[in-house]
Amino acid sequence: MVDNADVVLDAVVDAIVTIDAAGQILTVNRAALQMFGYTESQIMGQPLVVLMPEPYRSAHEAYVERYMAGGDAGIIGIGRELVAQRKDGSTFPIYLAVSEIQAEDGVYFVGIIRDLSEQKHAQDILLEQRDHLAQVGRLSTMGEMTASIAHEINQPLTAISMYAQACIRLLERPQPNSDKVLEAVRKLNDQSLRAGAVIERIQRFVQNAGGQREVVDLNALLLDLQHLVVGDARLHGVELVYDMTPRNPMVFCDPVQIQQVGLNLIRNAIDAMYEIECINGREIKVISTVLEDGGQPCAQVLVVDCGPGVAVEDAPMIFSAFHTTKSDGMGMGLSICRSIIEEHGGELSFRNNEGAGACFYFQIPLGHQDE
Ligand SMILES: Nc1ncnc2c1ncn2[C@@H]1O[C@H](COP(=O)(O)OP(=O)(O)OP(=O)(O)O)[C@@H](O)[C@H]1O
Ligand SMILES: [Mg+2]
Repeated sequence: MVDNADVVLDAVVDAIVTIDAAGQILTVNRAALQMFGYTESQIMGQPLVVLMPEPYRSAHEAYVERYMAGGDAGIIGIGRELVAQRKDGSTFPIYLAVSEIQAEDGVYFVGIIRDLSEQKHAQDILLEQRDHLAQVGRLSTMGEMTASIAHEINQPLTAISMYAQACIRLLERPQPNSDKVLEAVRKLNDQSLRAGAVIERIQRFVQNAGGQREVVDLNALLLDLQHLVVGDARLHGVELVYDMTPRNPMVFCDPVQIQQVGLNLIRNAIDAMYEIECINGREIKVISTVLEDGGQPCAQVLVVDCGPGVAVEDAPMIFSAFHTTKSDGMGMGLSICRSIIEEHGGELSFRNNEGAGACFYFQIPLGHQDE
């Protein structure tokens, strides 16, 4: 039936196999022999299913039976992806299209088989590259995390070194004042405990355990910050002024995290005012209020400085990681603050004051663990 077409068929890269109605192989082209590793004499007269591994073999037999019984066309007329088997038993992906030929002496089927190995390989490489890209993405998240660890640990470490130096200076005096030394050592101790708490929080984060949240008085948390920034504030000639709502807003939060936010905002305010040598004043106001207008009641915290304010061109970027206008800044502070506040179901934003300086403020919902 196909004698005259041999030359053409042998030039085709796809394997072409003809079978009779009983599923016996009648002819194969050269590509088919190469693809499956048989010689012509080995494959002639064999059932087509020798070219398939299980479970495709049984499925194919069932298709042919159904088809011959006049039922479902199965793979006839439409192609599908299957797995084929070489003589040596190894398997490879193929695309098989089978068509029916009605000849004078009966029904034949022609199977055109395309080896998809290379295509699959290319697909695998693509998937591999995608995985690789995802990994690069994770690495950059890790880069940001490392930077955030460095940022958070830096504050207590700077304070520790400051108090240690103060101790040295005090002890070097001819008659050291033991009360002052004791005070400095106590603060040194507070700061090292704080560094420990920050590390513990990061460990919990890495283990995905979530923060340790509890119901706390936000005012008390903020007032507690005084002890942490007093040295830094004094060093830069600025002063913290508190204006706390008398309502003692109770919030369900991770207290170390919320204090970190307050600390970062106050540190930024100190930097901003120091940068312009406090020409507009020396006060940083830390304000707490309760907002009840519409929706869930919130506690709001404002840190108001009298620095230069945020420049219009910087405004869209200041919350992005690694954006900084400072020669020694990491640009992590605000990005850490925003993610902490968002994790607490709140919002962090800023506005420039009508007079001088900027106001950074955040809300977190008032409430209890079981709400
Ligand atoms: N109170 C502020 N007044 C004016 N500009 C501010 C204030 N707070 C932040 N900014 C601007 O936002 C930028 C980003 O602040 P962020 O705290 O994220 O990083 P940083 O302070 O520069 O570095 P670090 O990682 O050490 O905190 C700052 O570099 C500064 O330009
Ligand atoms: Mg900062």
